[in-house]
Amino acid sequence: MSGNVFKWANSDDNDSSTSSTAVSLTPNFILPVERRPNLAEVSKSGDSVPIIDMGRGDIDGLIKEIAKASEEYGLFLIINHGVTEELCESMLSAVTDLFHLPPQVKARLVSDDPTKDVRFCNHFRKAEDKGDQKAKKFSMWSEVFKHSWHPADDSFAELLPSDPPNYRRVVTAYAKEIGFVMSLLLNLISQGLGLEGDVLQDRLGKNPLFRAQANYYPPCSNPDLTLGWDVHTDRDALTVVLPTSNMEGLQIMKDNKWIVVDPVPNALIVNIGDQLQVLSNGKYKSVLHRVVTNEHHSRVSLAMFYGPDKDALIGPMENLIDNQHPQLY
Ligand code: OGA
Ligand code: NI
Repeated sequence: MSGNVFKWANSDDNDSSTSSTAVSLTPNFILPVERRPNLAEVSKSGDSVPIIDMGRGDIDGLIKEIAKASEEYGLFLIINHGVTEELCESMLSAVTDLFHLPPQVKARLVSDDPTKDVRFCNHFRKAEDKGDQKAKKFSMWSEVFKHSWHPADDSFAELLPSDPPNYRRVVTAYAKEIGFVMSLLLNLISQGLGLEGDVLQDRLGKNPLFRAQANYYPPCSNPDLTLGWDVHTDRDALTVVLPTSNMEGLQIMKDNKWIVVDPVPNALIVNIGDQLQVLSNGKYKSVLHRVVTNEHHSRVSLAMFYGPDKDALIGPMENLIDNQHPQLY
């Protein structure tokens, strides 16, 4: 198979005036056969992820709905979450502008060093190729930009690039709103586990780890051979993702099948991470998910992660351990 199968798009239909270049110049995007997405098998009809109206008045009902979605899917969409459509749109266009910065500007921030707070990189996976027992590095069909965030202390923004001019300002405003949404979600999830509302957040510690990740998935000429983001679970406690509207891409594993997360206007995606799976003694699932690419359209997303304080000791909540539910972690 020749490398020509893939051509990183220099222009896409959303904005043909800008150009974007892969961070990696000699990418190996073609996954070994057994790791390819097998798109024909993904069930489009049938099961779909819950859509939860955060504005519904009845709190007890809301708590139950979130608890059920966290248990059965590990991922759900929220609408009427309080973050305005205008702010979400500004955030997505700032993210898009960021990935459309000239390659030489982005190159200054490219790094594979995970201890670096602000950086561009490609995701990659190590996998054994057929007939070759050595682990090879496969890049994902995406670029990512990682940085920290904080719901109250704006100083994180000083570390961010001043170009594009809006990114710092918009992400600071967005971080505040997402901070509220996450606190509310953690409170409701805590109650859904039979605890006082603040218990979960207390357990995660006074200085939670706030990581942000902007993802850019350019159009891909052959979505069958690669993935935008390989199969993974999020290692933090809770993730809230803002995706390009009207664009599919995210899929989750449910009952051993991949299902498409259908786009819903003005919805945010909420997903349970590894730390909540442990805290809930396995009751809630840290959902397996992946992102497939699209032949014609690019997609961006901004994932905001809430993780435990580095000093927090994470183990199952005591009230969730009994004879029927032995301690799993
Ligand atoms: C992630 C992720 C999903 C998406 O950043 O961890 O799963 O839709 N993103 O981009
Ligand atoms: Ni993820």
